[in-house]
Amino acid sequence: MTYPILVLNGPNLNLLGTRETSIYGSETLADIESMCIAHGANLGLRVVCYQSNHEGQLVEWIHQHRGAAEAVLINAGAYSHTSIAIHDALRAFEGFIVEIHLSNIYRREQFRHHSHISAAADAVICGLGSVGYRLALDAVANRLTSKKND
Ligand code: DQA
Repeated sequence: MTYPILVLNGPNLNLLGTRETSIYGSETLADIESMCIAHGANLGLRVVCYQSNHEGQLVEWIHQHRGAAEAVLINAGAYSHTSIAIHDALRAFEGFIVEIHLSNIYRREQFRHHSHISAAADAVICGLGSVGYRLALDAVANRLTSKKND
């Protein structure tokens, strides 16, 4: 039995579907989380999803999953641009890490162009909306299969 895949969403992502829909789309966080669970199940992955508006809570979840999750898919929202604490927590996580942003942060305001998460992540996907989460799960499944065949 493999460990779960952790899908973490940070601040304001609980407002998806009602917040700046021209940038973030009309899907809600519940839609994205159900898609991740269903797509993960198709790939043979057990996906667990959490969202918090609090930096420390995101850090706690990463700590709790050290040695207990195969991968973390993280959209840290605005904390991506500010949080060394989340960067450090991810550095202490030994599994595969994918940073996700719904929007293309490089086409937006300057303050969004730097992410502290990127330097701790194995891969970064941005600008593809919820498809980014789906592709990240594909990448995790691919990686786990290649690891098994090593
Ligand atoms: C975001 C991009 C961040 O700059 C922003 O603060 C968010 C969402 C995205 O998914 O595009 O809250 O992470």
